[in-house]
Amino acid sequence: MITVNRDVYGGEEVLRIEKNMPLTNLAADELLIDVECTTVNRTDCHILAGTPLIFRLFIGVFKPKYKSTGSDFAGVVTKIGKKVEKFEVGDRVFGFHDEGLGSHRSKLIISTSKPIEKIPEKVSFENAVCSLEGFHYAYSGFSKIKLAPKSRVLVNGSTGAIGSVLVQLLINNGHTVTTVCRKEHFGIMLQYGVSKTIDYQKEDFTKLNHSFDFVLDAVGKSSFLKCKSILNNNGLYTSSELGKGCINIFWALISFLPLNKRMKFPIPSNIPRSINKAKDLLASGKFKPLIDKKYNAKDIKEAFKYVKTGEKVGNVIISFR
Ligand SMILES: NC(=O)c1ccc[n+]([C@@H]2O[C@H](COP(=O)([O-])OP(=O)(O)OC[C@H]3O[C@@H](n4cnc5c(N)ncnc54)[C@H](OP(=O)(O)O)[C@@H]3O)[C@@H](O)[C@H]2O)c1
Repeated sequence: MITVNRDVYGGEEVLRIEKNMPLTNLAADELLIDVECTTVNRTDCHILAGTPLIFRLFIGVFKPKYKSTGSDFAGVVTKIGKKVEKFEVGDRVFGFHDEGLGSHRSKLIISTSKPIEKIPEKVSFENAVCSLEGFHYAYSGFSKIKLAPKSRVLVNGSTGAIGSVLVQLLINNGHTVTTVCRKEHFGIMLQYGVSKTIDYQKEDFTKLNHSFDFVLDAVGKSSFLKCKSILNNNGLYTSSELGKGCINIFWALISFLPLNKRMKFPIPSNIPRSINKAKDLLASGKFKPLIDKKYNAKDIKEAFKYVKTGEKVGNVIISFR
């Protein structure tokens, strides 16, 4: 049994790999899960560091609420509490919470009040666990934006955990999608069915001479002001980042004004709804998560280092097998 623990906020150096940590008794509403795999994602990096500071209101003000890092998991139920009805021993399950679940451990005790669902048949643990964090932010935000049918959309950061989901959701919904990423990742985008790819190392997409109904910056590298010239009248801009000095909140707050180009900043919510949507799309084969590297749990510090570079392509898996 492996547990990734820490006592304080910090970098990956505060993490300890511990073996054979004792488990507490199962409460009536809890499950014991043999974790097959989890990921290291950008949310985990914030949970590890305790940043931004306002986030500590949810994850622990002075010290981390969960000793173990980890916000998602996929695994098998091995024991259930007396009052559990929705799950049985042997069920394959996956779950995510943006405030963390302490799931960087091979055996996890978790309350059924947390967002957990059964993994659809024939969907692997790895595909399931990579359809949680990025999927939630993409789907939750995207479903709050009303787009006209067949809109022209540009996605910057299209190879990230969030971007790669957004691209697939937009294409599933019949929109025409242009994506911005490094040239070596054009192949991934073309497989998704995008109509055009732009290499940000060669071309500045904010200076294109054609415009879009919707510009989505999934890595927060642009700004509303820079993207205004590539927005159609009534065009919308969103970003996954708050922007310098939280400027994106300001632009979103004044979006009720009769401006012809506006910014929206959808706040992610309703994780169970996102997991259920991921379940449906995985089962129907309409969504395939983008998977980058896979690390063994003992190398989790390396995984954190890599994810913090901002260069991962989709999702980074941590395996406990
Ligand atoms: N709003 C929220 O609630 C929320 C929640 C979670 C995360 N976030 C933020 O959302 C952002 C995206 O998260 P994520 O997990 O999807 O990111 P990620 O997976 O770490 O994104 C990595 C991708 O970003 C691309 N990239 C790097 N620099 C770029 C640039 N200058 N222009 C275009 N693409 C670039 C890279 O593509 P190439 O390899 O093709 O270069 C890489 O594939 C992060 O900044 C994160 O902090 C926001």
